Amino acid sequence: MTDIMAAASRSADIPVVTPAGVTVRKPSTSDGATMWRLARDTGVLDLNSRYSYLLWTRDFAETSAVAWLRGGAVGFVTGFRRPERPATLFVWQVAVAEAARGRGAGAAMLDALVDRLPDVDHVEASIAPDNSPSQALFAGFAARRGAALARSLLFGSDLLGNGHRPEILVRIGPLRR
Ligand SMILES: CC(C)(COP(=O)(O)OP(=O)(O)OC[C@H]1O[C@@H](n2cnc3c(N)ncnc32)[C@H](O)[C@@H]1OP(=O)(O)O)[C@@H](O)C(=O)NCCC(=O)NCCS
Repeated sequence: MTDIMAAASRSADIPVVTPAGVTVRKPSTSDGATMWRLARDTGVLDLNSRYSYLLWTRDFAETSAVAWLRGGAVGFVTGFRRPERPATLFVWQVAVAEAARGRGAGAAMLDALVDRLPDVDHVEASIAPDNSPSQALFAGFAARRGAALARSLLFGSDLLGNGHRPEILVRIGPLRR
């Protein structure tokens, strides 16, 4: 591990506080149930089992984040490094509680994650074509990082089944550091 990576790894445990008062930190297993509830309450995210959020907080905490505002959990990001491209962070789910939206919590979580992982040079996410808030979230992130944003089809409705809308892959990078 290089010095810069060691420093980043240590700082990953220190919460980041935004000027708007949003605190972002790594999740722990005690956040799993809250992340499940936040995902459920969006009404738009595919809801995974509580078990999967718990497992995520145990095994992928380094690439995930939770956001707090005034003492309550208001958002989370679940992410992972792609096994065959570990410098690419795939953001799986992002959720911010309705009452806390538009205050930069989503952006702060993405920024904190990437700041904590200095070797990550690309971010990917899959976004439904009609999800304007999510499109805006990732477009804003790309702009802050001076990065290009490319779109391609990740999974079509035929693969997703159950009338699911296609998932469009957004690939952002290289990231400016
Ligand atoms: C998408 C989501 C996480 C955004 O979280 P948020 O905390 O409200 O986002 P932020 O306040 O950090 O805003 C980030 C950017 O998106 C823009 N934005 C946020 N909500 C928006 C909306 N409803 N319409 C248009 N733009 C919006 C902001 O203006 C900001 O743009 P900027 O970077 O150019 O300033 C939130 O709307 C959400 O949880 N939605 C439901 C779940 C979901 O769709 N998740 C994404 C699936 S991929």
